[in-house]
Amino acid sequence: MNLTTDQEAMLAGKKGWPLQIAMKMLAAVGRAQDAPELIPVTSAHLVIDGTALGKAGGDFLERLVVEGGRFVIPTSINAIAVDRTKPLKTAEEENQIRILEACEKMGALPSCSCNPFIQGIVPSFGEHVAWSESATAPYINSVLGARTNREGATAVASALTGLTPRYGMHLEENRRPNVLIRVETDLASVDQFSLLGALVGRLAAERIPTLEGLTRIPSIDDYVSFSAAYAIHSMSAIYHFSGITPEAKTLADAYSEPAPLPIIIDDDALDAERRKTANGKEGPVDVVSIGCPHASIEQLREAVEKIESSTNSPEIKVKFYIHTNRTTYDIAEAEGLISVLLAAGITVTADNCSVVSYDKLIKGVRLATNSTKMALFAKSVCNAEILFGSTQECIDAGLSGIWKG
Ligand code: F3S
Repeated sequence: MNLTTDQEAMLAGKKGWPLQIAMKMLAAVGRAQDAPELIPVTSAHLVIDGTALGKAGGDFLERLVVEGGRFVIPTSINAIAVDRTKPLKTAEEENQIRILEACEKMGALPSCSCNPFIQGIVPSFGEHVAWSESATAPYINSVLGARTNREGATAVASALTGLTPRYGMHLEENRRPNVLIRVETDLASVDQFSLLGALVGRLAAERIPTLEGLTRIPSIDDYVSFSAAYAIHSMSAIYHFSGITPEAKTLADAYSEPAPLPIIIDDDALDAERRKTANGKEGPVDVVSIGCPHASIEQLREAVEKIESSTNSPEIKVKFYIHTNRTTYDIAEAEGLISVLLAAGITVTADNCSVVSYDKLIKGVRLATNSTKMALFAKSVCNAEILFGSTQECIDAGLSGIWKG
């Protein structure tokens, strides 16, 4: 990989340890990926949850600060393992705040969300960026038309240097689709887009799909649900919706050759995906969890509306979490939504979620959710029994304590 004189100086340690370590990471990835060079990026998004980074991660980031490391591009932060406004109870929680504060000292924006798009952090079409969190990359590439690989620790190196190796999603030829999927079912809600994302991810595997046949333009919430689900089943960081997303306005745009024969996704295929996701049956519910990825203000308004119009008594009978980010929480509080949710017995978390939080779900829990990503994590991490359905079904289960199926 070709490095400029300036980049060679960073690699040799002539510009300090933080830039040297960052350049070592970028050079190692670039060489492994046969990247010809490093290119500038305009923003980075970091995964810094303490459950993954531990004490060693905190020590590393603090050393970067002490040695003069500073982020040279706008840098946002993914969901973390605590709610920043709550008292810290354990050494682990203190470590998470230490990690966050180290990033803030280097210039990061404490967005603390896997859905920074609803906080206004939105790269533009054609921008090269370095974002980690698998769910954000498909949204960046597919919906916004900006360019990122699914970054890991390298996002910190990009934040420090403003650079990334030119490979993968940064190359035009790697963004074109090679499998066509025809959707022959109407999709009306985030749970359905979540099921569709999981199914498309599995069917496409490492290929890049174009979907045709969607009967309406998805909302941001639909896209985010689809992207998160897609990312857990596919290695790809991009998809296209024919006639809708910016790099596939028409099928002819998307395919330089005649489009391949389509794979069909119909009502039966979506029902089968629902059965694959849900391994629980009707009966009592222990926990309801919605807001994966973090809920938007529209989803919080919808939850309040459904609770207020419920024929059940508006009092939640089970542990009920809605996960969101701090910005949305504050807007919801100003609108009076949080007080309604709290009065009903719902815990609205900001900054974190049931998966990245230190406050873990208990083993074998019966969990109702509208997110296939939450379902998959809960099944694999705590052997949960999953009850999967719409936001309405989840709220009904929270109010009655029973999943009706
Ligand atoms: Fe976000 Fe947690 Fe789901 S980080 S995507 S709410 S698993």
